[in-house]
Amino acid sequence: MLVAGMMSGTSADGIDVALAEITGLEWKTRIRLRASRFVPYPPDVRHRILAISGGALVPASELSQMNFLLGELFARACLHVCRRSGIGKGRLRLIGSHGQTVYHQNAASRFCGLRVQSTLQIGEPAVIAERTGVTTIGDFRTADVAAGGRGAPLVPYLDYLLYRHPRRGRVAVNIGGIANLTAIPARGGPEEVIAFDTGPGNMLLDALAERATKGKLRYDPAGRMAARGEISETVVRRLLRHAYFRLPPPKTTGREQFGRDYLKRFLASGRFHSSQDALATAAALTAESIAYGVKKFVLPKFSVADCIVSGGGVKNLFLMKELRRRLCADQDAGQEKGSGGMRVLTSDATGIPADGKEAIAFAVLAYHTLHRWPSSLASATGARHPAILGKVVYGKQ
Ligand SMILES: Nc1ncnc2c1ncn2[C@@H]1O[C@H](COP(=O)(O)OP(=O)(O)O)[C@@H](O)[C@H]1O
Ligand SMILES: [Mg+2]
Repeated sequence: MLVAGMMSGTSADGIDVALAEITGLEWKTRIRLRASRFVPYPPDVRHRILAISGGALVPASELSQMNFLLGELFARACLHVCRRSGIGKGRLRLIGSHGQTVYHQNAASRFCGLRVQSTLQIGEPAVIAERTGVTTIGDFRTADVAAGGRGAPLVPYLDYLLYRHPRRGRVAVNIGGIANLTAIPARGGPEEVIAFDTGPGNMLLDALAERATKGKLRYDPAGRMAARGEISETVVRRLLRHAYFRLPPPKTTGREQFGRDYLKRFLASGRFHSSQDALATAAALTAESIAYGVKKFVLPKFSVADCIVSGGGVKNLFLMKELRRRLCADQDAGQEKGSGGMRVLTSDATGIPADGKEAIAFAVLAYHTLHRWPSSLASATGARHPAILGKVVYGKQ
């Protein structure tokens, strides 16, 4: 069945769309990717999303309007990618749309006398189903939260499907606004998967690049500015003391912890001589926090042969260089191979485009939901049980 998956992450840069032919079920699922493209948000939409998700006080009317506006943009992105890929929308059977997270709570808090945990993704699926005529599933995170989970991460289901291996322990790292990893032991079952957010991904880097170029650039292209700077290892070490990094998994984080306030904290943590130095140090901190997550929470449990990296962060070559170096440091300092002989590669090398993996995941999750099949990993989200994810809006077809 031809399924579209759509995703916009914490960077709020725009919509990743993947079209995939999916057959089978659960661990026998087969995915044949037909297209994968990125459709950026218009700049004013992005700014409003960043304001809302950054905690700005907005009236319910704005949230409601943004929910429907994003529904329109997601529908257009889907139709655009179908057209550009020469795939008639009549062939599309299902859409899985993650939408845009504007609020995500990591732990329950007391609210009007009850302990409540909640998450909110917007981009109205009813609008997408109406515009495309295709059955659309959205709101993937809520069922897991209702089952006592954190509602994230959800991509480990796809990681397990794609990357489990009889002899090689593997870690899949995704560097979006926030960086996360899925670790799978050799021959491991889904209940043995370890998955968590490691900390900031591109979030801090993007904020610094925007600041350095007075808003002209949204990110540091290929990490070229960072490559001209000098890393302050003292600052990296100091900032790595942040309580989040040491917290044992499962754990998730977001803009609440590593957004605007964290940028201020970062800038106050050292005297940077140039914006290049700040960028280099932020890239090093990002890489070090990922490597720390692997070394502290994965390697003590099992060995890892491959580290497969995806997400927009793959395009930042300085960040990738630092990640390779830091993953490979310590035990094998100076050798070609990494910790315990780890190979670091991008997901492209496994046939999955680095910036399309998460969109593919939501196509796969939607496909399972349509078959009434649970597709969360309780080991990753901390839920009481795996849940059938999402809400279905039936299309006209
Ligand atoms: N050419 C590039 N050079 C460096 N970084 C890039 C490039 N293209 C994208 N990125 C980074 O990737 C980010 C988007 O990654 P993505 O995986 O879409 O994150 P998210 O899931 O949070 O939306 C951008 O904000 C930017 O930091
Ligand atoms: Mg994105």
